[in-house]
Amino acid sequence: MKIARVTLSDRAAAGVYADASGPEIERVAQTFFAEPLEWTRVLLPDDRAALEAALRRLADDDAIPLIVTTGGTGPSPRDITPEATRAVLEKELPGFGEVMRMHSYATVKTAILSRATAGVRGRSLIVNLPGRPSAIGECLPLLAPAIAEALDHIAGFRPRLA
Ligand code: MTE
Repeated sequence: MKIARVTLSDRAAAGVYADASGPEIERVAQTFFAEPLEWTRVLLPDDRAALEAALRRLADDDAIPLIVTTGGTGPSPRDITPEATRAVLEKELPGFGEVMRMHSYATVKTAILSRATAGVRGRSLIVNLPGRPSAIGECLPLLAPAIAEALDHIAGFRPRLA
């Protein structure tokens, strides 16, 4: 199964520090998908046009059924991930963000600062995650059953879960 992971971080993209969240998406996804995973890896600054172009390319040209972003979901001026995602979605699936915030809020009160969303473009599912590496493991496994179900509806196959 093809998966793209897209990290949004001005500083990681500039080489100020290494991207830890993108590799963490791979580590966590491998714990719950029982399919072999073929990764496309993208690292971008918090730039709306660049993210919209990358999401369009990954969905339309590369036909990647699952595209997971990390970072840029908060309230800072440079945080544009939800806006760029919504601009390319055909259908928004707000439940993904709702469950991440609701579940994370029990232990991390700042979780409600994330505006992460998700939705469908063509035959691809796009899911935003917050940028903290610890948030990946707190959020992504919660979404696994809905990701599998959504891919069955939109991409025509249901990935096996571990
Ligand atoms: N969700 C979880 N599970 N764990 C976290 O540490 N951090 C929050 C929130 N959601 C966090 C979380 C914080 S402090 C912010 S500012 C927002 O995610 C947005 O983060 P982002 O802009 O890096 O996406």
